[in-house]
Amino acid sequence: MYDDIKNWMIDVRRDFHQNPELGMEEVRTAKKIASYLREMNIEVIEGVGGTGVIGIIRGGSEGKTVALRADMDALPIVDEKNVAYKSKAVGKMHACGHDAHVTILLGTAKVLNDSKKELKGNVKLIFQPAEETTGGAKPMIEAGVLENPSVDAIFGLHVEPEIGTGAIGIKYGKAYAASDMFDLIVSGKSSHGAYPHSGIDAIAVAANVITALQTIVGRNVDPRDSAVVSIGMINGGSARNIICNHIEMRGIIRTLNPKTREMVLHRAKGIVENICDSMGARGEFIRHESYPSLINHESYVDIVKNNGEKLLRKDKIIAIEEASMGVEDFAYFLEKIPGAFYFLGCRNEEKGIVHPLHNCLFDIDEECLLIGVRMQVENVKSILI
Ligand code: NI
Repeated sequence: MYDDIKNWMIDVRRDFHQNPELGMEEVRTAKKIASYLREMNIEVIEGVGGTGVIGIIRGGSEGKTVALRADMDALPIVDEKNVAYKSKAVGKMHACGHDAHVTILLGTAKVLNDSKKELKGNVKLIFQPAEETTGGAKPMIEAGVLENPSVDAIFGLHVEPEIGTGAIGIKYGKAYAASDMFDLIVSGKSSHGAYPHSGIDAIAVAANVITALQTIVGRNVDPRDSAVVSIGMINGGSARNIICNHIEMRGIIRTLNPKTREMVLHRAKGIVENICDSMGARGEFIRHESYPSLINHESYVDIVKNNGEKLLRKDKIIAIEEASMGVEDFAYFLEKIPGAFYFLGCRNEEKGIVHPLHNCLFDIDEECLLIGVRMQVENVKSILI
């Protein structure tokens, strides 16, 4: 059964790879997914939380509902690979392997649909937009993706070029950080550069703010925990002889622990407002809340691990020790229901497939597609059979 779909999946993946679409613009991708599902006679709901698509496979008897999720969006990167299936959309590329995720979920749908009579319960196929931008998981949840039938557990995967094809990576507990973005505004008063006492120098104030913000990670976060405070943009000033009255900065905060997250945000706001105030300026800290920390549920990681050991070799299950300070909006699903997110090896040095995610030369070893399908099928069957 699996070998029959291998070549089909390679064609499907290459078609998505050649036609990448950015977050919330996945119109062609969503249409294609819906038509593949309809060809399989699977129930389809389109336009969920934007461009999201849901497929529902109802098993032979009543039982739980297991969801599988694939993200659909591409990145604004120029595809510089020299392959026949390179991106046809200028400046857009599936450089994070979401084309593979969609293909694996379609392959999994095919296999599970063909054997649905033996399933005790339902499978919900979630094709989610905008993982790379504003996050499509949250709007899909708000649109009711976890209801009717209500979902009991969820599995998701991500291709991983650091892991060789034929292996998977698992992570117990915290796997990805929570993300907050922030804007900082320092308002002072302009004057002639030769008469600084007549103004309030926003640049001098900003310098103190930047230095003090770095003490949060060094002095307030438990050394055994992890956090990041990074300022990536700073703008201000108009001429060398004018005291600057306005500085804007932009940055990110990453944390693994919800309590640490609140503490870091609280300290950052306090530092900005109070340092500015103490120097006669006005400081504003504007938080843009983003993805929560992705926390895997242990017993579901065990399911993935056991299935990996069954399908692959024992030494092909790589236990990842440290959480990533990157983010993944699958975290929203795991806030609501138990499940696991794991990593599918897609590296092949002999084929030159060694480039990292989000790189203009990123590619996957297509041999991983079938492994992804077999893993997801077994994960579902572990619960529904
Ligand atoms: Ni990704």
